[in-house]
Amino acid sequence: MPMQRNTTEDDITAEALQRFAGTQDPRLRQIILGLIRHLHDFVKEVELTEAEWFQAIGILTEAGRMCSDKRQEFILFSDTLGVSMVVDLLSHRKPDGATESTVFGPFHRLGAPELPAGGNIAHLDKKGTPTLVSGRVLDLDGKPIAGALLDVWQAQSSGLYDSQDESLSELHMRGKFRTDAEGRYLVRTVRPVHYPIPSDGPVGRMLRATGRHPWRPAHIHFVVSAEGYEPVTTHIFDRTDEYLGSDAVFAVKDSLICDFARREKAEGDAARLGIAPPYYTTQFDFRLKPAAEPGATVLDAQRRLAALGAAR
Ligand SMILES: [Fe+2]
Repeated sequence: MPMQRNTTEDDITAEALQRFAGTQDPRLRQIILGLIRHLHDFVKEVELTEAEWFQAIGILTEAGRMCSDKRQEFILFSDTLGVSMVVDLLSHRKPDGATESTVFGPFHRLGAPELPAGGNIAHLDKKGTPTLVSGRVLDLDGKPIAGALLDVWQAQSSGLYDSQDESLSELHMRGKFRTDAEGRYLVRTVRPVHYPIPSDGPVGRMLRATGRHPWRPAHIHFVVSAEGYEPVTTHIFDRTDEYLGSDAVFAVKDSLICDFARREKAEGDAARLGIAPPYYTTQFDFRLKPAAEPGATVLDAQRRLAALGAAR
């Protein structure tokens, strides 16, 4: 008598799991079996129709077609679905006192210029309010880390990153800074603004269809790395921003919120750099934990960024 097979949807799930059960690599086996189980459960739970399944394939196809060296629609999906932050939390469990990480986002680009302390990343932005961001890079004991690298990027005061701004053909609002012997850094920029994530693709349609807004609270992106320390990918946020409680990508952490103080007099660094009031200052100290893998370097951090699909 011929064997009866694949008569129910649960039979298919069991058969698919069995086909992958011989995967040699134990981690790959764990991932693929978990994926099959959850994916099949999801389809069965919502009783996905054929039309919906075709629609999903169409959405993924369109997302893939939209990706380029300046656009990463899949990172936007991951960010807006909250997955990026879950992965971030699982991957970066910091000991007490280390700076918390947050999403990398789709807008990092390689090749930002190295600038001296006080260098202006916003040299083409004439509308924003000048802002000085300063602080130190420290280890968990509070000792300064000299020569740490801060890779900084930010949206312009128009709310657009350079890669979204068709009037720009060069990198803008990006720079790399090194800490001095006391671990100090100083970045000149303009006050960050809240901005909507790109909503002209499938991610935007998803947000509209589900009644969600696309706004991210004002922030500045940092990747901070130093020889022998775990690099941290993070942002600092403006405490007064109206979207702190509803960031479209779930990236806000209390420890990353800063006060941007308005200054009416040119003093200190601002006077030395020729910044006319009004301007803002804010301070943030980054604390790095020792590298888990000995020999982790700044270069490794850059390679990791490149592997994440950072645009060149
Ligand atoms: Fe951003």
